[in-house]
Amino acid sequence: MGFDLSGKRVAVLGAGKMGGILLKALLEKGFLSPKSTFATVQHEERARSLTEKLGVPVGTDNLAAVRGADIIFVCVKPQVVQEVMEQIRPNVSPNQLIISVAASVPTSQIEKALAGNIPVVRAMPNTPCALGYGMTALCKGKYATAKQAETACALFDVVGRTVVVDEKHMDAVTGLSASGPAYIYIILESLAEAGVKVGLPRDVATLLAAQTTLGAASVVLETGDHPALLKDAVTTPAGCTIDGIMELEEGKLRVTLIKAVVKAAQRAKELAYG
Ligand SMILES: NC(=O)c1ccc[n+]([C@@H]2O[C@H](COP(=O)([O-])OP(=O)(O)OC[C@H]3O[C@@H](n4cnc5c(N)ncnc54)[C@H](OP(=O)(O)O)[C@@H]3O)[C@@H](O)[C@H]2O)c1
Repeated sequence: MGFDLSGKRVAVLGAGKMGGILLKALLEKGFLSPKSTFATVQHEERARSLTEKLGVPVGTDNLAAVRGADIIFVCVKPQVVQEVMEQIRPNVSPNQLIISVAASVPTSQIEKALAGNIPVVRAMPNTPCALGYGMTALCKGKYATAKQAETACALFDVVGRTVVVDEKHMDAVTGLSASGPAYIYIILESLAEAGVKVGLPRDVATLLAAQTTLGAASVVLETGDHPALLKDAVTTPAGCTIDGIMELEEGKLRVTLIKAVVKAAQRAKELAYG
């Protein structure tokens, strides 16, 4: 373990899809101790079932959950962040670290809502964090130190890769890597459907599509080669792949993906300032 969380209290506010993924993964990997981890949700019934499922206390009282916490994850929907920050303000002090994963909410908004020079790190993870294949971009607010940013990075390193970016890029990150798994699932589903069309059993087609996606992504990450060069290596002159590529170009796959990321990033900006 590159950093020590032993004895540290951690609160996860909003243990929904993303909060739940982070909580479960960090508990499973032994980075959080069930004894010093607390979480909240909105509904009592869900709190009860999560307490049983995760083996940590889950309640609905945000103010109580953050009392004495060293690290506070904010994982509620962007529209709820302001209200939750106002709730917890009386129990938050500058020796705590806030890590917000809320899309679109600037660190300055959280700092302003909490008042009192509170260190804030903003992170944008994605759902593959559940299996340790996540991608998280992080930036720090005005009062967070480099060491606190490092601590936040170290936490997200446990569930995948991390990159530090300027805050001005966080909406772009949202449109690319946070929304990205949804685009890739559609591509995978389509490739599997295509496999079925050419006669493969569905389970085989899905396996071929998923492992091919994982393989191609791994080659990009491990070699650092430009994807266009790697594509050329697959494309034998007068072979089969070039015929497939012609169909992709005619169907405007490239421009469609570019437009998808642009739209999602624009939406992230609208949610923040609209
Ligand atoms: N999903 C993703 O892929 C993803 C990726 C990156 C970032 N994020 C960010 O993660 C945040 C959560 O998204 P999500 O997809 O995980 O949504 P979600 O599944 O709806 O989770 C939101 C959670 O917040 C809880 N909640 C609502 N109001 C609350 C309150 N006042 N106090 C405490 N908890 C409250 C909800 O409780 P109940 O369960 O009782 O309703 C729910 O558990 C968002 O800000 C989003 O931008 C999500």
